[in-house]
Amino acid sequence: MLTGGGDCPGLNAVIRAVGRRVMTRGGEVVGILEGWKGLVEGRFVPLGPREISGLLPRGGTILRTTRTNPYKVEGGVQKVLENLQREGFDALVAIGGEDTLGVAARLYAEHDLPVVGVPKTIDNDLSATDYTFGFDTAVNIATEAIDRLHTTAESHNRVMVVEVMGRHTGWIAVVSGIAGGADMILIPEQPVSIEDACKELRHRHERGKDFSIVVVSEGYELEGLNDAGEVDQFGHTRLSERGVGAALAREIESRTGYETRVTVLGHIQRGGSPTPRDRVLATRYGLKAADLAGEGKFGRMAALHGDNIVDVPLADATKELKTVPPDWWAVAQAFFG
Ligand code: F6P
Repeated sequence: MLTGGGDCPGLNAVIRAVGRRVMTRGGEVVGILEGWKGLVEGRFVPLGPREISGLLPRGGTILRTTRTNPYKVEGGVQKVLENLQREGFDALVAIGGEDTLGVAARLYAEHDLPVVGVPKTIDNDLSATDYTFGFDTAVNIATEAIDRLHTTAESHNRVMVVEVMGRHTGWIAVVSGIAGGADMILIPEQPVSIEDACKELRHRHERGKDFSIVVVSEGYELEGLNDAGEVDQFGHTRLSERGVGAALAREIESRTGYETRVTVLGHIQRGGSPTPRDRVLATRYGLKAADLAGEGKFGRMAALHGDNIVDVPLADATKELKTVPPDWWAVAQAFFG
């Protein structure tokens, strides 16, 4: 099994569950180091009962991770296929988000790779599943931060801008914003202009409130702010360096005259122990992935539909992003201004 892309709380819980189920049934489990990179380079570690013990509450991934795309490495796909065959692996469990599972879906379609997927990302933007593991933990961390910022915002009569992760979608911003009582939320899916956001804040302050909380998703398009810097092998720039939160805070202060500060939560949202909900979801996904692999149901991904763990085609999960639907946005909007 391998873990690819940005790490997230619950990866180790999946590794433990896959390992337990496979070993209980008499199989052997091997960890591939650093995502697709390890499969290209042939870097493996055996995973026995000792290696998978104590993993449930542990953040990060014991297998390490990279954003390597074998399709962007010379001879990368060929090496993946050769290494799988040489090691005699019967099945591959790929734990990742849109990029890692996009590669898995393509390798399955083009080379019949015996792969099953597990949906991971704090961004919650994978289709064909209601939730990815890691999201609940990130929302908990962001909500706690918003709660803490409320008290200091109130003491100083300030506007507090909180920048949260979410490369293409506003799931973390909307859900933590609703939970934390944000007065304005800005996300990539809903192009609210800065002027309209400031109008809402002025309206709130005219109603007698002296402070406001604004949650902004790192992927929100702010007029005049361009993507800069390096692009990874999946074509992504580093949004944490784009500084949307800081730019937004400057704009709000200059347009409204309200003193404004910014907090960028960044990778804190991805670190540390998973919530109980994510531990359980990751565990259920891991068992399902091991079952799919055992049954030879390749090209499938474990998914959550309602309260049930089901399996769906990998291709369905990765063909389009799951954006924040209008009814979630409407709940957030009801508390703006
Ligand atoms: O895709 C998950 C994610 O956490 C995004 O929200 C964020 O833009 C990105 O990863 C950050 O990646 P890196 O670890 O490369 O800084």
